[in-house]
Amino acid sequence: MKGWWLDEHRHAGPEHLDPIYVAGYDKKAGFDPAEDLEALQDKGMGSDSIVVDLGAGTGTFALAAARLCRRVVAVDVSPAMTASLRQRVEVLGLDNVTVVDAGFLTYEHRGVPADVIFTRNALHHLPDFWKAMALSRMASLLRPGGVLRLHDLVFDFVPSDAEERIETWMAGGVSDPTVGWTPAELGEHARGEFSTYSWLFDVMLDRTGFDITDRSFRRAVYATYTCRRRTT
Ligand SMILES: C[S@@+](CC[C@H](N)C(=O)[O-])C[C@H]1O[C@@H](n2cnc3c(N)ncnc32)[C@H](O)[C@@H]1O
Repeated sequence: MKGWWLDEHRHAGPEHLDPIYVAGYDKKAGFDPAEDLEALQDKGMGSDSIVVDLGAGTGTFALAAARLCRRVVAVDVSPAMTASLRQRVEVLGLDNVTVVDAGFLTYEHRGVPADVIFTRNALHHLPDFWKAMALSRMASLLRPGGVLRLHDLVFDFVPSDAEERIETWMAGGVSDPTVGWTPAELGEHARGEFSTYSWLFDVMLDRTGFDITDRSFRRAVYATYTCRRRTT
C-alpha cells in the first residue's frame, strides 16, 4: 500500500473493533432491511443479481439480500464485525455469501461487475477526500446502469444552521445506549467523524459517475440516496 494511503482500520471507529460492542450492535441499531430490499427490487435487483455490501457490519442487509440474489459480497474493515458475520453465514447455511476483510479503499472486486452496491452508515468514517475516492471505486466495480443504495449521516443544512440542527438532533438521542445512540454519542459523531453536507455530497456523487434517482433525509441528518452508475 502507498505510504500516504489512509489506514481504514484506524478510522473504522474504535467501537466497531470491539467484540463486546459488536455483540450488542444489532439491538442498538434496530435495523430492518425490508424497505431497502423492496426499493432495490423496484430498481431491478433479483435472483440474478450480484450485490456488494460495503461496511456490512454484522450483515443484517447482506444476509437478507442473500435470500433474493445470486451472490452477496459483504465487506467490512473490522475483524470483529466480519467474525460475527461469518458465524451468522455458517449458522444460516448460506452458500452465496462471501465475507471479505477489506475497506472502501482496498476491496478488490473479482468476477463480473456488481449489479447493486449497498452501504449503510459507514462512509462517514472517511474524510471527504477519501470519501470521493471510495465513491469512484464503487462506480468502477458496478456495471453501467448498476444501482448504488446508500444510507449515511449526511448533513442537509447550511453551516449557519449547523448549531441549531446538531443540537436538535442530539436532543433526540436515547438515554439507553443499548437501544440507540445517546446525545453524547451523537455529539461525538459531529465532533470526530466525517459527515458531509448534502450539497457537497451531491456533487461528489455526480463527479464520480452517479446519477441520483432518489434522495431523502430524516431529521436533516439520516440520508438515503439511490443512484445509478452512468452509462457513459
Ligand atoms: C454503524 S456500522 C454499520 C453497519 C451496517 N452497515 C449496518 O447498517 O448495520 C459501520 C460499519 O462500517 C465499518 N467501517 C468503518 N470504516 C470502514 C471502511 N473504511 N471500509 C469498510 N467498512 C468500514 C465498521 O467496521 C462498521 O461495521
